Amino acid sequence: MKNDSWTRRNFILAGTGAAAAGAAIKYSVLEPSPLWGSSGRVAPSDRVRFAAIGAGIRGCILLRASLQVPGVECVAVSDLYDSRHTAAELALKKSVPLTRDYRTLLDRKDIDAVIIATMDHQHRRVFVDACAAGKDIYCEKPMSHTVEDGFLMVEAAQKASRIVQIGSQRVSSILYARAKEIYDSGRLGEVYAIQASWDRNNPGGAFVCPIPPDANEQTIDWKTFLEGAPQRPFDPIRFFRWRCFSDYGSGLAGDLFVHLISGIHFVTGTNTVAQRAQSAGGLFHYKDGRDFPDLIETFYDYPNFRVMLRCNLNNDQGEFFGFYGNKGTLVIRESSVTYTPQDTRPEPDDYTVMWWPEHQRKEYMQQWEAEHPSASAPKFDAKKETEVYNLPRNYDDVVDHQARFFEAVRSRNKTVENEEFGNNAALGCHLANYAYLNRTAAVWDADAREIKG
Ligand SMILES: NC(=O)c1ccc[n+]([C@@H]2O[C@H](COP(=O)([O-])OP(=O)(O)OC[C@H]3O[C@@H](n4cnc5c(N)ncnc54)[C@H](O)[C@@H]3O)[C@@H](O)[C@H]2O)c1
Repeated sequence: MKNDSWTRRNFILAGTGAAAAGAAIKYSVLEPSPLWGSSGRVAPSDRVRFAAIGAGIRGCILLRASLQVPGVECVAVSDLYDSRHTAAELALKKSVPLTRDYRTLLDRKDIDAVIIATMDHQHRRVFVDACAAGKDIYCEKPMSHTVEDGFLMVEAAQKASRIVQIGSQRVSSILYARAKEIYDSGRLGEVYAIQASWDRNNPGGAFVCPIPPDANEQTIDWKTFLEGAPQRPFDPIRFFRWRCFSDYGSGLAGDLFVHLISGIHFVTGTNTVAQRAQSAGGLFHYKDGRDFPDLIETFYDYPNFRVMLRCNLNNDQGEFFGFYGNKGTLVIRESSVTYTPQDTRPEPDDYTVMWWPEHQRKEYMQQWEAEHPSASAPKFDAKKETEVYNLPRNYDDVVDHQARFFEAVRSRNKTVENEEFGNNAALGCHLANYAYLNRTAAVWDADAREIKG
């Protein structure tokens, strides 16, 4: 704790005031790397042909982004809701074969890869079938809907030697790459505390999406939607607001924590599961019959640090990461990364000696100065040493993430966000939900591959 007195360090800073006044935070704009194939024609043998399975909101965003990735082509789309067929063609700006039954696409020998952007509870079935059919897979996050699903998916991908990438796109963002560079440089010192949050404050962000007027049992394959979930009569609320229901979605943890966990795992180079999670929160505002809370806070124990995550659907502060080291702090906020070093120069403990008799205090100070001859050098100015990196306008990490996947399909090198990475991140979400729903600490038993209360 610091007192309000005029400390030696204040004095040093004041003495260097003229220099400090001229100092400014260093701002830079990050530059994206050129995409593979962007500088010339891509040989037909290098083109990757893929199909999309699930062409809802996310599926169409991915299809539109794929138009910016050189050397790839969507050649078919599958979705259970007919209007999404039209939406997919709109996103692709062309016609493609359309079907409700994704298995017919897996039979096609001219398709190398699939993008899976279905509701979470369908990921495992489609993923395992795609592996068996020899397709490489870009699968949306959270990779799994249950703990068991995740391990079945890892096994299926590895048995069939498939290239897999999970869709938490921050892992391919140039912003997170810079954050990782700073983290790896050691400039943060020892990092024991990490905090991240994602707060949003609108009904769409809370999954209360509008129900399209043409939604009915003729336009939607309800029977297939229910595969892997309990039987129920047709209910468009469940089809369109599936994230609110544990039968199909994974709540705020699966929707948003997964990005925070993936970002933290990527920056810190962690490829494991937290050992323990404890959650708090509640359903305060969106009391519309959903199974999940609209506020969740989870504390995770990792071997070398602790992580605190929050997601609040009743505030608009957006996305935030803080990596708190004993030499510096790294903050990621939406489109910027900020590194701020700390003044770690030695300092006399003037707080403790404040009430010592004067002669003892002087003696202490003289001795301290003799032991720290270089301590008065004006070498630290927090402002001058702070670095801020911004994303360029219009930068889209979804394009970079897809490009990484398609490069891996060509090179056969494993992606960074591969099936194991995706499984670990999703397990973090399952731990958070387990702890919240069971009101207990959720302990990860790695040998048994089970969450224990
Ligand atoms: N990476 C991100 O930032 C991000 C953002 C949003 C959503 N997502 C993820 O993308 C996935 C889809 O989310 P969404 O918002 O697009 O949901 P959505 O409800 O808009 O779309 C899902 C679509 O999948 C289709 N579908 C389901 N099962 C199918 C099957 N067996 N065969 C063919 N189609 C099937 C449905 O008909 C529906 O149109 C989810 O896993 C979600 O978590 C990721």
